Amino acid sequence: MTDRLLAAARAARTQAFAPYSQFAVGAALESADGQIFPGCNVESASYGLTICAERNALFRAICDGARSFVRIVVVTDTETPTPPCGACRQLLWEFAPEAEVLLVNLRGDMVQYTVRELMPGAFDRHQLPPRRH
Ligand code: THU
Repeated sequence: MTDRLLAAARAARTQAFAPYSQFAVGAALESADGQIFPGCNVESASYGLTICAERNALFRAICDGARSFVRIVVVTDTETPTPPCGACRQLLWEFAPEAEVLLVNLRGDMVQYTVRELMPGAFDRHQLPPRRH
C-alpha cells in the first residue's frame, strides 16, 4: 500500500461527520493513473441518507472523471479493521472490480481483499436485459 494513500484515508477520517454513530471512517481510492480520491462518512439526521466513506471517495473520483481504479484503503479506529457495507461493495464492484481493498485500523493492523473476493455472484449490468432503442 502506498503511504500516500494511507495518509489520505487517515486524513479523510478526521473530516468524518458522524454525530449519530460516533463512528468515523476514512477512505482513499487510487485511480489507475495514480490520482488519490479521499472520502469520509457523512451522516444524516434521517440516518438512511448517510453516505459511507467508501462511496463518498468513489463518487468524488467519478465526478472528477476517473474511471479505472487499483485500490482503496479504509481506515477506522477499531480493534479490528472494518469491512465495507453491502452498498459500498456493490458500487465498488460496478466501478472498481479489480481493485484491492485494504482495511486498516489506527494501530496499523491490515486485512486485504480484492473487490472480486467480496462480491461472489454479484449483480451488475450483465444481468440486465438488452436495451431496446
Ligand atoms: N460506515 C462507513 O463509512 N464505511 C463502512 O465501511 C462502514 C460504515 C459509516 C456509515 C455510518 O456513518 C457509520 O459508519 C456507522 O454505520
